[in-house]
Amino acid sequence: MKFFLDSANLDELRNATAWGIVDGVTTNPSLIAREGVPLEDRIREICALIDGDVSAEVVSTKSDDMVAEGRRLARLHRNVVVKLPLIPDGIRACSILSREGVRTNVTLCFSAAQALIAAKAGAYIVSPFIGRLDDIGASGIDLIRDIATIYRNFAFPTQILAASIRSPMHVVESAKAGAHIATMPFKVLESLFHHPLTTKGLEQFLSDYSKAFEEAAVR
Ligand code: G3P
Repeated sequence: MKFFLDSANLDELRNATAWGIVDGVTTNPSLIAREGVPLEDRIREICALIDGDVSAEVVSTKSDDMVAEGRRLARLHRNVVVKLPLIPDGIRACSILSREGVRTNVTLCFSAAQALIAAKAGAYIVSPFIGRLDDIGASGIDLIRDIATIYRNFAFPTQILAASIRSPMHVVESAKAGAHIATMPFKVLESLFHHPLTTKGLEQFLSDYSKAFEEAAVR
């Protein structure tokens, strides 16, 4: 499974890449707005920090404008993946850009029917938002499982990127359900490391070891 950082914050990205387990980055207009830096500038900065897929989302809503914006974003760096909303104009733009060899990430996916459309349009990645489905009492993980089944049945090459991840369990359950990628906020990535028994076990190892050699030194 690939891990992507769902952030446009450079400090978070520097800290995350230091662990050597992050394969790419996803951004969206809200994450970019939070940083207050123009999209193209921030995408260049992110591409300079990580050698992996970096999703940059268009803010146009008409297909012709999306195609022009997508071509511009794709020219920023070879690792840029153009993010398009799963609306009719976004799917039309996806079909056009995919045929030109531009890699696309079709986002804001909330149903298997939508994911089927994204694959048929040649999407490189589809982003089902599992947390937002859970937020309304639906099952985001069931959606990942359904998409994985459909994509396997027809050998669609589109990668399933579990997005809108809220917890370590979302990551684990998405992996079990067949997602290729999990994109997550820094706080979720960091929380994957922690287990109280690991902390307790290390403390005991170090305590036993230091006692043994301190006692030897005293004898
Ligand atoms: O960036 C795409 C997605 O992961 C954002 O989800 O629900 O955390 O805004 P959310």
